[in-house]
Amino acid sequence: MRKKLVVGNWKMNMTRPEAAACVEGLVRLVGREDVAVAICPPYLALDCVQYLLRNTSIALGAQDVFWKESGAFTGQVSANMLADVGCSYCIVGHSETRGRFGKLEVAESTLGYFSETDETVNLKIKALLYCSISPILCVGETLAEREAGQTDEVIASQLKGALDGIDGSEFREGVVAYEPVWAIGTGKTCDTAEAERVCGMIRSELSKIFDEDTANSIRIQYGGSVKASNAKELFSQPNIDGGLVGGASLNPNEFADIVKAAA
Ligand code: G3P
Repeated sequence: MRKKLVVGNWKMNMTRPEAAACVEGLVRLVGREDVAVAICPPYLALDCVQYLLRNTSIALGAQDVFWKESGAFTGQVSANMLADVGCSYCIVGHSETRGRFGKLEVAESTLGYFSETDETVNLKIKALLYCSISPILCVGETLAEREAGQTDEVIASQLKGALDGIDGSEFREGVVAYEPVWAIGTGKTCDTAEAERVCGMIRSELSKIFDEDTANSIRIQYGGSVKASNAKELFSQPNIDGGLVGGASLNPNEFADIVKAAA
């Protein structure tokens, strides 16, 4: 039976004092549930958050990584640096790093900032696995792709590209997060039945890429406007093994309620 996993993606939020206050609130609220929990602060807060989590069951994660081990790559952070600071997880392929946004006005203001591709995601996953960090691979369709009936095709292609050349034995502790782009930050959560259908399709694709046993060991999360009010129904689905939570993870009380909904 896969243990549920709830991960908070803080995105570009929280200075170190704000991060400390948030974590201090959270550690008082969670830790006794049979749920795996992780938080992914911005790079600059990783070290202080790791220190505050050191005596808790909450794991540390990063929001991105560069695939080279070291060298002249200005502004980048490597997988071994994330391992050094205590990361157990790392998000890769988030729609926002692929330049695919739920809120079009955000996309316009950040055009050209992000150029993630399935190929770079694949390189990042390999670098993370080499450093024993569990990748959280994000996949999902835009509203235009959904309306064109391309949801399954887009996600299958993202999975194939991201996992190319990776052995199932390496990815058993990996995570796939289904994040419909149109549900991210919009308050429009995917219908539970559809989220379960897509996560079931993802598991089926993983069994083709790897094998059925490996596919059944991989945790598949849902992300996209997860709230305390909808978490229990989502997480009760057979193929949804928890959530990747954005905005709601910035509030320790709501994030704790989401964790409890997974128990
Ligand atoms: O990575 C999780 C994030 O994309 C979901 O954001 O604010 O819709 O929960 P949000």
